[in-house]
Amino acid sequence: MTFDNIKRNILLISEGVEYEVTALSNIAAYIYENMIDVNWVGFYILRDGKLILGPFQGKVACTEIELGHGVCGRSAKADEPIVVPNVHNYGDYISCDPETNSEIVFPIYKNGKLYGVLDIDSATVDRFHGQNNEGLVEVAYGISMVLDKTKA
Ligand code: SME
Repeated sequence: MTFDNIKRNILLISEGVEYEVTALSNIAAYIYENMIDVNWVGFYILRDGKLILGPFQGKVACTEIELGHGVCGRSAKADEPIVVPNVHNYGDYISCDPETNSEIVFPIYKNGKLYGVLDIDSATVDRFHGQNNEGLVEVAYGISMVLDKTKA
């Protein structure tokens, strides 16, 4: 499935959904089902000055991440995507699953303000690069569009 289709379908399955948690739960499931070779897809949400675990698909994960720590905390603090081709070479990596080898994290916005991050992991080294990442930027943008229309 192309990223264009994933983005379009995320908007479709979220149409008329009232609450953030409902929309994000189905979005995590949809990405997990439709991206090849990923082992964790989910959200960390900015609350009380830290990131808390949100809707996800995959193995049990750490429940809170401080801003500026780990890939997720750094992405949120810097307000920019981070690609980690090999997590074993990343000094500040927070490991949730020993099988994960690469990771990509995107900031997600609601009404133009940072809401949290989308985190996608893979067991394959260097899974996320090139056109992959450009497509995922669009997917992340679609998620922000959904958040704009839903309530807490
Ligand atoms: N690896 C992340 C933590 C979250 S798990 O991968 C699901 C990080 O370093 O922020």
